[in-house]
Formats: sequence, structure tokens, C-alpha cells
Amino acid sequence: MATPDELQATIDALVQKGKGVLAADESGPTIAKRFKTIGVESTEENRRAYRSLLLATPDLGRYISGVILYEETLNHRADDGEPLPQLAVRQGIVPGIKVDAGKIPLALAPGDEITQGLDGLAERLKGYKQQGARFAKWRAVYNVSDTLPSRAAIEANAEALARYAAVSQEQGMVPIVEPEVLIDGDHTLARCAEVTQAVLHEVFRALTRHRVAFEHMLLKPSMVVPGKANALQATPEEVASETIRVLRRAVPAAVPSINFLSGGQSPVEATANLDALNRQGLQPWQLSFSYGRALQEPALHAWCGRPANVRQAQEALLKRARLNGAASVGAYGADMENAGD
Ligand code: 13P
Repeated sequence: MATPDELQATIDALVQKGKGVLAADESGPTIAKRFKTIGVESTEENRRAYRSLLLATPDLGRYISGVILYEETLNHRADDGEPLPQLAVRQGIVPGIKVDAGKIPLALAPGDEITQGLDGLAERLKGYKQQGARFAKWRAVYNVSDTLPSRAAIEANAEALARYAAVSQEQGMVPIVEPEVLIDGDHTLARCAEVTQAVLHEVFRALTRHRVAFEHMLLKPSMVVPGKANALQATPEEVASETIRVLRRAVPAAVPSINFLSGGQSPVEATANLDALNRQGLQPWQLSFSYGRALQEPALHAWCGRPANVRQAQEALLKRARLNGAASVGAYGADMENAGD
């Protein structure tokens, strides 16, 4: 049975000034899609080699406090035989685990999706904990249009997120609660703000109903941005002020840290937007990152599946980690992109 001390120790390790979380928990189909962009086949050995190189990056723990892994990675070993969760810990990085089982169409609600994976969750969490994981992640996604997401989708996904979070805390695992309002589509900044506020409001209503301790969870939301296909894109200052407005209305101050996903923003955009968020004045929560693509993309392209490129790939990852670390305290500048490492 979990103790509050156990959850608090994990929160203390994850929530550190100038640090954020690396999302390296791509599911089978998603990592195959990422590898395809560099012409690499998604074999188990290639996935092991890639994730080993990420975790073995020298000094990664200076900017990264936690890493979200996919189930198979818990069993993988680095080239020297060290289990990858242990390598993370040695770097000062807390290992976590994606526990949802992906999304399916929501029945009778065309265009909406629901995340599944609650059955047997407590048992699975026990196993993951034995393998070294100390926190968990569950992602809900919301498609945006004039009519989506439906009320039913907002309520069903909130309920699943809250049930997951309650089970996780009961098992002594800090839940990362990830409601992602998708960037796909041509919706406006204002429409994204409206949807994000409705989603977050319902998520916290459900978390309250399920007695989740806000102090012992992290929120991983999307930023408020216009749809990718909208001709009118937003400046980092606009993204920051709309995002802060929505968060202040919907997220209790007891939540220690908000770690954004990158959701299809380019690596530089994601860093600039996080920096602008941290320049909006003092907020009740830490504002940091839990990026997948925005941290990994340059490293993936530097690697291209070749052992000879491992060092270059690690340098590329460390650079994004360092710049996002700076952005998480509002100390990033565009000039840092080209400065020597
Ligand atoms: P991105 O930053 O690439 O959106 O990934 C974050 C994540 O964990 C998605 O579930």
C-alpha cells in the first residue's frame, strides 16, 4: 500500500527547478512512424539501441528529472548489460511508464476518441513498480472542430483519467495526467482556448470526485495554440497569455508542476513558447516540459540508426534538454540556438 511520503519523494525528485521530463514512451506503431522518417526499421534491437543512447547521454540528469518509458523498455539493457531503468536512476532521472493502452473511437460519437487500459491496471502497476517505475502516464486526446469534442467525450475521458490517477496513487505511483487537445485542424486560438478550458475543468472535477491528491500528481496539458492548418498562427507571447489564462481558471494551485507536451510544435517553437510562458509572471505551479518529439527529433535525425552517430545524437538531445531547462525558468534566448555547446 502506498504512503504519502512515497508519493512526495517522487514529486520532489521530478519537480526540480530548471528540469523537465523526457517522453520516450512511443507505442509500437508510433515509434515505427518516427523510425520511418530516418529510414530505420522498428525492430526490438533498434528500439533498444535508440532508447539506450538517449538514456546514456552524458549529463542528461542536469536538465531531465524524469523519463517516461514504454513497457518493453523496462526490460531492455544498455550495451554494457545495465538495465535501462537502472541507468536512468544512475543519471539522477526517475523512470516512469506509460500505462494507457491507446485510443479507440468513442462509440456513437463520430470523430471523438476514448483512451482505454483501466482493466487490470492495479496489477500492472505493481509489476512496473517492481521493475523500477515510480510514476505513470495516461494520455487522453481530443479532436477539435466546431462541434468536437462532444460533451460525452469530455466527460468519458475525464472519468478514465481520474480513475487511472486514483489507482496510480493507491499503488504509490505519481500519476501524470495528460489531456491533449490536438493541434490538427484549422481551428482558431480562441477555439483551442475554449476547448482546453472545458477539458481541464472536467478533468479536475473528475479528479476531485475520485479523491485524487492534487499535491501528488503532475498535469501534462497541451498549450493553447491555433490549429496547424489555420493561416493565423500565434506568437509565443499570445500562446503564453492564452495558455496562462486558461490554466489559472481551471488548475488548482495545489498541483506542483505543469509539464507541457509538445504535440507537433517544432523543437524551437516548443522551447520559445515554454520560455514565454515562464515570462508571464509568477504562477502557483512550476511550468516545465514533458516533450517527446520536441526533445528527440534532432537526436533521431542525427542518429539515423548508425552506431557511429551516437555521440552526435546525444549532443543534439542534450542541447534541446539544456535549452528547455533554460526556458523552464524563463532564461532562454533565440541566440542560444546557435551558440556553441
Ligand atoms: P510530444 O511532446 O511529442 O507531443 O509527446 C509527448 C507525449 O508524451 C505524448 O503522449
